Amino acid sequence: MKGESGKERIMESVSVLIPEEQVLQRVREMAAQITEDYAGEELKLICILKGSVFFTTELAKRINLPVKLDFMSVSSYGNEMESTGRVRIVKDLDESIRGEHVLVIEDIIDSGHTLSFLLEMLKSRQPASIELCTLLDKPSRRVVSVPVKYSGFEIPDEFVVGFGLDYAQRYRALPYIGVLSFDD
Ligand code: IMP
Ligand code: MG
Repeated sequence: MKGESGKERIMESVSVLIPEEQVLQRVREMAAQITEDYAGEELKLICILKGSVFFTTELAKRINLPVKLDFMSVSSYGNEMESTGRVRIVKDLDESIRGEHVLVIEDIIDSGHTLSFLLEMLKSRQPASIELCTLLDKPSRRVVSVPVKYSGFEIPDEFVVGFGLDYAQRYRALPYIGVLSFDD
């Protein structure tokens, strides 16, 4: 399609990869496992903004333990579809994690750059324990290995949006996980 500038306008479309009910079913299973693994403890969930917000709230509601939340925002240098090894903290945690049981919540692990940086940085703050939890994992794209304790779904090498995940800040509020494609 031609845009007003006369340039070719690329059309985007989204097709459902994981329907909402399937995502929520998996979230329930993950919450049950976390509840069992941390029985008797208090847990601090660290939500990595902005993509993990939707997943974090659905998960937190279903964990049957005392849960605290804190938020961190990082930006990885790269373009809209790929991160690089360099990560910058845009918003740090509000509170100390020293002596706490910490679970870092991510939307997706792709190259592993973001989480491997975060994990090392947070470990230096001396939590009692620290583990990683991600809704989605693209293992075929891994460049840096990261020890993921809880993973919702392994997905193929496609660019996905929805349930918090964006493309140029759009599509986050879709209730399902969809594959974004560009057709001209
Ligand atoms: P990594 O550092 O390469 O592991 O990338 C992780 C970050 O890249 C995620 O937190 C997302 O913000 C973004 N990302 C990677 N793959 C996708 C995708 O398929 N859709 C949307 N965002 C993605
Ligand atoms: Mg993003």
